[in-house]
Amino acid sequence: MKIKKIMVAGSGFMGSGIAQVAAAAGFTVVMQDIKDELVQKGMATIEKNLKNGVAKGKLSEEDVKATFDRITPTLDLALAKDCDVVIEVIFENKQAKTELFRKLDELCPREVIFASNTSSIPITELAAATKRPERFAGMHFFSPVPVMKLVEVIRGLKTSEETAVTIKELAEKFGKIPVYVKDGPGFLVNRVNAALRNEVYRCLAEGVATIEDIDKALKFGLNHPMGPFELGDFVGLEIGLAVAETLWENFKDPKWAPSLILKKMVASGDLGRKTGKGWYDYTSGEKKPRTDLNF
Ligand SMILES: NC(=O)c1ccc[n+]([C@@H]2O[C@H](COP(=O)([O-])OP(=O)(O)OC[C@H]3O[C@@H](n4cnc5c(N)ncnc54)[C@H](O)[C@@H]3O)[C@@H](O)[C@H]2O)c1
Repeated sequence: MKIKKIMVAGSGFMGSGIAQVAAAAGFTVVMQDIKDELVQKGMATIEKNLKNGVAKGKLSEEDVKATFDRITPTLDLALAKDCDVVIEVIFENKQAKTELFRKLDELCPREVIFASNTSSIPITELAAATKRPERFAGMHFFSPVPVMKLVEVIRGLKTSEETAVTIKELAEKFGKIPVYVKDGPGFLVNRVNAALRNEVYRCLAEGVATIEDIDKALKFGLNHPMGPFELGDFVGLEIGLAVAETLWENFKDPKWAPSLILKKMVASGDLGRKTGKGWYDYTSGEKKPRTDLNF
């Protein structure tokens, strides 16, 4: 299937990144959100990223203008009906996503393919909210989207071969490295990473090492580019918890029980970089250890 025009529904951290890589690959992009200030914030993020590319000598001013001009910011979901693919990138909330897909299903002709960037919600469940489960797949990007190469192409129970191939080829056109993954709790990378994180939280709870030393150990001992706590702050702690809860609800195996430390952190409202504090304190503009937490 020839893809020319893409709607990215949700213009936040991930949505703006996906819109950017799609436009940079030459696609016409409609980036939609629910409030004008949010969609404008997404456009500003894209502009800033592209200008950084110019400053680093990776992009020309012409590339930046051409990419930027290919993105139309909008609040109007109905523009999806003229798109070939809709990539959903809204909050990690099943009800919100299901409602959005129901609306999209009514608006869009049958041939339009739907993809979700969900981190944890089963693709088969989201697809079941539509009358096109065969034209529905997971397209799971990693953050920051313009940098990270992997895309998991998730086949729901009824995703057709044609849809899976179309989404895989689309990811390749975005300059990404796709892998096929069957629908299942946490898909692949988040499942493996959740197992690692649970062990890390256990080590923290047992006092095996501090947050800073655990991060150092995994960076310099296993060559991870970021420590697990740094990464958690970067992604958002609530997203890590959503993944942990999905694994727990599905497998009901104590090894997947969400960490109490993580639950407390999310309950406190400290979600990472976006709230100024998470496992570290960023309020001074620099990453500093926290001394105010009673684990
Ligand atoms: N943050 C990550 O590292 C990461 C990685 C992979 C996948 N994801 C997934 O990507 C999705 C988005 O995450 P994010 O970090 O970009 O969140 P975010 O909070 O930065 O952005 C979400 C955006 O969706 C918008 N939105 C909410 N409801 C909407 C609706 N009905 N229609 C249109 N827009 C709506 C919000 O206004 C917001 O701008 C989630 O499903 C998340 O699990 C996140």
